[in-house]
Amino acid sequence: MSDHLTVVDHPLVQHKLTIMRDRDTPTAVFRQLLREISQLLAYEVTRGLPMTTKRIDTPMQAMDAPTLDGKKLALISILRAGNGLLDGVLELIPSARVGFVGLYRDEETLQPVEYYFKVPEALEDRLVIAVDPMLATGNSSAAAIDRLKAAGATNIRFLCLLAAPEGIARMKVAHPDVPIVTAAVDDQLNDIGYIVPGLGDAGDRMFGTK
Ligand code: URA
Repeated sequence: MSDHLTVVDHPLVQHKLTIMRDRDTPTAVFRQLLREISQLLAYEVTRGLPMTTKRIDTPMQAMDAPTLDGKKLALISILRAGNGLLDGVLELIPSARVGFVGLYRDEETLQPVEYYFKVPEALEDRLVIAVDPMLATGNSSAAAIDRLKAAGATNIRFLCLLAAPEGIARMKVAHPDVPIVTAAVDDQLNDIGYIVPGLGDAGDRMFGTK
């Protein structure tokens, strides 16, 4: 994957995203749609994975059939909203290893503060896909990627649902080697760091908190 930014403007993704944006969409529907979209986005973010072949017998004859190569990939959820994307992606890639980076955003400084870090071993040998639905300021995403690189990751992709231009720009400066896959790029951030038009607080919408 070479482009820094991929926007998945597939009709199914855009249709589901519109329902998720609607403030009247209930928590259970929001969660289900996030699961469905995450699988469509996972299809894009895993494009170009290294392949090899293995010898198999079909009922008709032997063949060298394509199969994924290399170590199991690592999915890293940036807590807590990342878990909403993680579940769907894991359904599609059940053998993936899973890690968590816990960051919360200081509401005054908008800077990320780390409270949890647990990742699979041998990150340096794996494709690492970091997931977080909202790429807003980019501060916590960039900090999470810093931590993953410090833990050995060299081949990282970032999957989100919505991105702000500010977050994309921040990631491009901090981590130009990390391709971003998203369903949409919105207009801007508001003065408290929320994406507009956006969908509100993704964690609150998926977990029914306020
Ligand atoms: N996090 C969210 O959940 N929503 C935003 O709009 C920005 C950050």
